[in-house]
Amino acid sequence: AVERTLSILKPDATRRNLTGKINAKFEEAGLRIVAQKRLHLSEAQAGAFYAVHKERPFYKDLVSFMTSGPVVVQVLEGENAVAKNREIMGATNPANAAPGTIRKEFAESIEANSVHGSDSAENAAIEIAFFFSGIEIVG
Ligand code: CMP
Repeated sequence: AVERTLSILKPDATRRNLTGKINAKFEEAGLRIVAQKRLHLSEAQAGAFYAVHKERPFYKDLVSFMTSGPVVVQVLEGENAVAKNREIMGATNPANAAPGTIRKEFAESIEANSVHGSDSAENAAIEIAFFFSGIEIVG
């Protein structure tokens, strides 16, 4: 089925001017960027977005990293978009990411891993609503 998923190009990617190269990966794989904006997240915003990880040991560093520079938040649309985007991104830890994936090619570390993607259709809906209103998404 055609789905939507929330994608974030993280500060390590914007810092190295990789937004075009990463977007090309999504488009070449058949995902369409139906909404996109560049933001500098506040601590409150990043903390709220990653609230599910609040008890994890890496939470504080994660929030600090995600506020260290601009991010690009996007909605990707396509057949099986949630799973397809996770395939294109590769494993969370770039050391385990398959060849050709975004994280294998671009990620610097498990924290500075260039991209975020929703992990389920249910979370995709929540994460898309966190950043975008209906009129900002043009399918
Ligand atoms: P993301 O998909 O954005 O969701 C949570 C993020 O926490 C994850 O990608 C990683 O970038 C980051 N992170 C940092 N350290 C770890 C860790 N040890 N295990 C999992 N995620 C981590």
